[in-house]
Amino acid sequence: MTIVIEGGTVVSAVGRFKGDVRIEGGRIAAVGLGVKSPGDTVLDASGCFVLPGAIDPHTHIEMPSGGGFNADTWYSGTVAAAFGGTTTVIDMITPERGRPLAEALGDWQARARPGAMVDYGFHMSLIEARPETLAEIPAMVRAGVPSFKLYLAYKALMLSDAEAFAAMRAIGRAGGLALIHSENGEVIDLLVAEAVARGETAPKYHAATRPAAAEAEATARACRLAELAEARLYVVHISCREALAEVLQARSRGLKVDAETCTQYLVFTAADLDQPDFAGSTLICSPPVRTDADRDALWKALAARQVDVVASDHCPWTQAQRERGRDRLDRIPGGLPGLEERIPFLYTYGVEEGAISLEELVALTATNPARIFGLHPAKGSIAPGADADVVVWDPMQTRIWSAATHHTLADQTPYENLPVHGAARHVLVRGRPVVQNEALAGEAGYGKFLPRSGGPSSAPQLSKRRIG
Ligand code: URP
Ligand code: ZN
Ligand code: ZN
Repeated sequence: MTIVIEGGTVVSAVGRFKGDVRIEGGRIAAVGLGVKSPGDTVLDASGCFVLPGAIDPHTHIEMPSGGGFNADTWYSGTVAAAFGGTTTVIDMITPERGRPLAEALGDWQARARPGAMVDYGFHMSLIEARPETLAEIPAMVRAGVPSFKLYLAYKALMLSDAEAFAAMRAIGRAGGLALIHSENGEVIDLLVAEAVARGETAPKYHAATRPAAAEAEATARACRLAELAEARLYVVHISCREALAEVLQARSRGLKVDAETCTQYLVFTAADLDQPDFAGSTLICSPPVRTDADRDALWKALAARQVDVVASDHCPWTQAQRERGRDRLDRIPGGLPGLEERIPFLYTYGVEEGAISLEELVALTATNPARIFGLHPAKGSIAPGADADVVVWDPMQTRIWSAATHHTLADQTPYENLPVHGAARHVLVRGRPVVQNEALAGEAGYGKFLPRSGGPSSAPQLSKRRIG
């Protein structure tokens, strides 16, 4: 089928122009004026921006937890993605201790394949650094999973410094990319135990038990370990100025390190954790949301091209699951919905407020992640030959965000009652509408696994970065 997206303004990471997009065989065939032929199917984009399908490189969909899973299935999570203008997700695999990585990859593939509405790839978490585990890294890279998340926090997942170093070295040697969750887990565990002993168990104490200094210290350590290991590094979910400063320092020394923040750190602050009747539990995530000054600094860092990617860290829970921690903040499962929220909230709070341009939104959510994670040139931009992953974004729509209307299976959201502008009118994945006229049009299982290459040796050429 040939589709022409007609009458919109096509936006890339570096500019915009009025033009139509011709799609043939699932790929972009031409972009410009006069690309329509008689008999083409036409999707109306008048009054809309035509954006490359967004890539969310940090999700936890249908994540195993406590013998069950978090709130979403691969179907519901990727429906939420589609409505949010995201056409590719890269999900975190967390293997069970003692089991081969290959088996964990098989488990994730088996869950994703029947349900996915949009395309998907995986990162592998390394929660142990046994010789057998590290020996599997080259095979993972060959299988199209060339990025590995390492944790410096969470008792069940964290690596020691020696283990993190050994893992980074093995990843670097295999041509992979090390992703780091940088919080000092040992210090945080002590602070949490002390808070619980004092009876400070409500969500409002979450931020104080995971201070910015603990994130900055771990970020600095991770950067030094990556330098020592000669590995590329990508710091996930940066929440504060101090951690970002460590990334900039490391870059000034020559480390190839990419930086990610997430929507929630750009929208909320720790004050939002303090709500009656456990409502602050909807905003529990790690690292925690921080101060006004941190939020402002992160917006500025996006505009200064110091942060490369805005991801969601989508990890939704039901209220019943949150209740596990009603009397113990450290038992509240961490994470929140974000797949559907990322583009509308970046658009409303970033583009409309003048903090970032629409081109920067495209860079941060599509073009940069495509380059960093080895998906470019098939994904991340609207250009002849690329996959026809396209979002027709109607900026005139206004909505009040609510758990009653969002598509994740989380039955509550910290975004409840917040106004947003803009909505995806049409969303295409490889030329096929998955959302059409704001209604679901795709089908479960259409999304396909994207084996990725190791990607470039450093972050995006498109971002003219300022260091320091
Ligand atoms: O609290 C969070 N962020 N949960 C998801 C897991 C992680 O650390 O990314
Ligand atoms: Zn993390
Ligand atoms: Zn995460």
